[in-house]
Amino acid sequence: MKVLITGGTGYIGSHTSVELINKGIDVVIVDNLSNSDFEVVNRIERITGVRPAFYKTDICSRSELFRVFENEKIDSVIHFAALKSISESVEKPLLYYENNVTGTMNVCEAMKRFNVKKIVLSSSAAVYGLTGNNPLKEEAPLFPYNPYGRTKMIQEHIVSDFAESESFGAVILRYFNPIGAHESGLIGENPKGKPSNLMPYISQVAAGRLEKLFVFGSDYKTPDGTGVRDYIHVSDLARGHLQALIKLENNTGVFTYNIGSGRGHSVLDMIKSFEKASGRKIAFELAERRPGDVDMCYADSSLAEKELDWKAECSIDKMCADEWRWQKLNPNGYE
Ligand code: UD1
Repeated sequence: MKVLITGGTGYIGSHTSVELINKGIDVVIVDNLSNSDFEVVNRIERITGVRPAFYKTDICSRSELFRVFENEKIDSVIHFAALKSISESVEKPLLYYENNVTGTMNVCEAMKRFNVKKIVLSSSAAVYGLTGNNPLKEEAPLFPYNPYGRTKMIQEHIVSDFAESESFGAVILRYFNPIGAHESGLIGENPKGKPSNLMPYISQVAAGRLEKLFVFGSDYKTPDGTGVRDYIHVSDLARGHLQALIKLENNTGVFTYNIGSGRGHSVLDMIKSFEKASGRKIAFELAERRPGDVDMCYADSSLAEKELDWKAECSIDKMCADEWRWQKLNPNGYE
């Protein structure tokens, strides 16, 4: 089986590539490297002993993407490539619609043209927004609270409508908050510039690269007033994609699953766990809420357990330990 992974050198894409290659699947990576590094391809090879095919290609260019499909006989697509910063999406909504929506349209066009009938779409808990009923089930109404979440919801609609019209199989995975790193310490999250997500920020404070963490909001309706999220180890998440491909072996139609641990942790909980894992003090300051953030968000992932035979396994302590190993071994990211 040959799987095209858009955004395959990114954080989740690289861990998923490793997972697939370790199961003997041929991986073709397409990435424009706008938020990732070519070195990831070398690291994937170091971990797995196999070098994936790599195309530096922007999926927003339909002709470039078609060329990849012409060169490779693709069986399935896992579509990650997208912009993902909530705060940036509030500032630059058109950039997010352009990248995330156009990219998805082009992936679907290429699949139609080259007769590829299976897709796994990377979606997000951000599609639920302010529904408020935690733990969130897949059938909860979608009220995305920021442009990023809206682009994810639109991607879901495009893929679902397209899959139904072409009678092919689509699995939509709604990730909660992926953190941690591969346990080798060779791949991990490597944001360009100042991190916008919590864990890379905390780990750079622990490493002394950043002075202190700003805790966005301490007056939320949560036990300690700080935001509560469902953190999940990126390797658990990567395994979810493999299970999704297995599901598509014998099924057509559209299947949507929450991919989370089912447990909520606050920002202060995460600081404590990271201090334990790293043995370092994390300096922080309570600050204003961040625009676009919700108070609480955690998953009911029982449908994925039932239908994909998938369940999150790693503890918060392991997530923090792996994140810290990655940070220590790669103080300047992939440089
Ligand atoms: C959101 C999505 C998640 C998606 C991610 C992509 C929700 C509920 N989750 O994550 O599915 O994968 O975007 O980027 O929409 N925080 C601080 N200080 C910081 C950074 C973050 O206090 O410097 C807090 C946030 O306010 C939040 C928590 O930490 O309460 C997690 O934030 P972050 O890591 O940015 O992820 P989400 O925005 O929850």
